[in-house]
Amino acid sequence: MTRKILVTSALPYANGSIHLGHLVEYIQSDIWVRFHKMQADTQCYYVCADDTHGTPIMLRAEKEGISPEQLIARVWGEHTRDFSGFNIEFDNYYSTNSPENQHFASEIYLRLKARGLIDIRTIEQLYDPEKNMFLPDRFIKGECPKCHAKDQYGDACEACGATYAPTELINPYSAVSGATPVIRTSEHHFFKLGECADFLRDWTKNHLQAEAANKMNDWISGGLQDWDISRDAPYFGFEIPDAPGKYFYVWLDAPVGYIASFKNLCQKNGLDFDEFWQPDSKTELYHFIGKDILYFHTLFWPGMLKNADFRTPSKVFAHGFLTVNGQKMSKSRGTFITAESYLAQGMNPEWLRYYYAAKLNGSMTDIDLNLEDFIARVNSDLVGKYVNIASRASGFLHKQFGGHLSADSETGTEGYALKPLKDLSLTLADLYEMREYSGLLRSIMLAADETNQMWDRYQPWKLAKDPSQSVLLHSVCTRAINAFRLLTIYLKPVLPALAAEVETFLGVPPLTWSDSQHLLPAGHRINEYKHLLTRVEQKQVDALVAANSENLAPAAGQHSQTRHAEKQQHAAIATHPLPNPPPLAYPEGHKGEGTNVGAVAPLISIEDFSKIDLRIAKIINAEHVEGAEKLLRLTLDIGEEKTRNVFAGIKSAYAPEKLIGRHTVMVANLAPRKMKFGLSEGMVLAASGDAPGLFILSPDEGAEAGMRVK
Ligand code: 2FM
Ligand code: ZN
Repeated sequence: MTRKILVTSALPYANGSIHLGHLVEYIQSDIWVRFHKMQADTQCYYVCADDTHGTPIMLRAEKEGISPEQLIARVWGEHTRDFSGFNIEFDNYYSTNSPENQHFASEIYLRLKARGLIDIRTIEQLYDPEKNMFLPDRFIKGECPKCHAKDQYGDACEACGATYAPTELINPYSAVSGATPVIRTSEHHFFKLGECADFLRDWTKNHLQAEAANKMNDWISGGLQDWDISRDAPYFGFEIPDAPGKYFYVWLDAPVGYIASFKNLCQKNGLDFDEFWQPDSKTELYHFIGKDILYFHTLFWPGMLKNADFRTPSKVFAHGFLTVNGQKMSKSRGTFITAESYLAQGMNPEWLRYYYAAKLNGSMTDIDLNLEDFIARVNSDLVGKYVNIASRASGFLHKQFGGHLSADSETGTEGYALKPLKDLSLTLADLYEMREYSGLLRSIMLAADETNQMWDRYQPWKLAKDPSQSVLLHSVCTRAINAFRLLTIYLKPVLPALAAEVETFLGVPPLTWSDSQHLLPAGHRINEYKHLLTRVEQKQVDALVAANSENLAPAAGQHSQTRHAEKQQHAAIATHPLPNPPPLAYPEGHKGEGTNVGAVAPLISIEDFSKIDLRIAKIINAEHVEGAEKLLRLTLDIGEEKTRNVFAGIKSAYAPEKLIGRHTVMVANLAPRKMKFGLSEGMVLAASGDAPGLFILSPDEGAEAGMRVK
């Protein structure tokens, strides 16, 4: 019977770039989908979408001076570009801000309500009186009540790890406006998750990895609290059908986006939607997610589906986080690497697909991208072992046999047979199914080693010099090509673009899994070998790290990812509906929602401000500094007897000659700083944002050197 499978990956937020951390999941699931698509008796569909709703996206758009719709349209373009750059092939990549999603989110809500599973309660919440909005926890900052670290978020302290309610913060302020928040009441809608406890206790036993099932069991035993699913206006999302001014919390409609994206696919290609989503569906549904969002996918989501008469997932597959060189991804170390920057360096996406696959298994363990190991592994396995087989054999085949193969058989000569390699197909299929990619790649590379050893034993370069050995040479080369073809079939889910080039080289139609059960026929002609894969160079990796270090903004306003931003919005102070999720490994530089909208610094008094002596400065000279990557040396006139010497980190944005003669603004009373290149006597101000680029300030016409700015 034909297997019918629907696969999803977590929907990325529509306000951040795809980075190498995200790609672990998309590569893991894409490989799994591609493996299934190679099976003759399987229909497999892979859908995803951008997760577009919520406060961070609303504020981000506002900050950029565009509508949320414009923001999410732009980010959709960036995300689809990055995914296709890494050969992630969705059948549909949609948006949660779609009519289908609004329809299903409303339908699910109304069905839950009809079952008596929605409760309306008044809660107290912190409110920004200047911005006129309720504040999610991550938009409230203040002093940690435990360790007194300043500028901590409303839900957890990044200095000491304490978790607390935002009302416990000392001197709280709104990260949106800087105002002191006040407590206000509001009616919120709750999904009565507690009433799903029996179902969930049972369901989580059979649909999760063992380690995840244990964790969920602990949570369920601890008591399931009702889930706050509404937010007050202003909010970018769907209005709740029977509650004007109330919106579905982003996490309510995000997973519904899986259904909506599939519905949209069905509308495009005539698939039977009900067959996949009706409660007694015989099809399979798999969600690939990060371990940090298990709570949403294994409690709320099945609870919602079950009680709204939709099918529940067959399995939820959780994976671990990515570390780079053994540490959290870090902007300062240049290891917070975006998908775009990787591709922009001209690096091959399949190197990364291979390396991730070589590290991935079916568990939730974190995986490490060790950059040295990455270079070594890709070069030794893919170039040294696999591609090498084709380049060695094809030369002789073309020089001596017109590119034609001889007859070959599965049984071997001199200890090398193709049969074991052919039979490996069953084991490898199991390993793909179980997501044990690291084990399967080890087996494939061992088989590649054996093929190379066979080659070396026969020493074809010697056979080629002896016309009496021509038949043997022909069969050794043929066997090598047959082995190479089998290896390609097995590697194809991991390396789809490379496999497509190999198909051209071999002169065969797209390879399917069952093609591993036969060899190429005698007389088959292969094409001339063209370079299939280049080696990774150390200098490329160095340039990648440098490119991602240079992305660092010099001061405030750094861009940060919000992969996990909204899930910690507990919102209700009085009720605190969720137990705290386990501590998460945020990448360094992750500041959640606050930083993403350019959090305003704590308030200062006018006296504080007047301590800063800002002056109009005329740039008398500007020049490069030998040995400095980022600096220009500026000579500034601020109306004093002597000019000032200031080093400014603006080399990436300005040619020195363009600056000479301009007026700008400098901090004139900053303590002089001794630098490697000399003394810096002040600081020039420049603006920067999320996008690359630095902009020094210019006063209006008429301002003169030395004037005070206040
Ligand atoms: O954590 C995140 O990045 C969420 N945007 C994932 C949503 S997955 C699904 F539920 F939509
Ligand atoms: Zn603390």
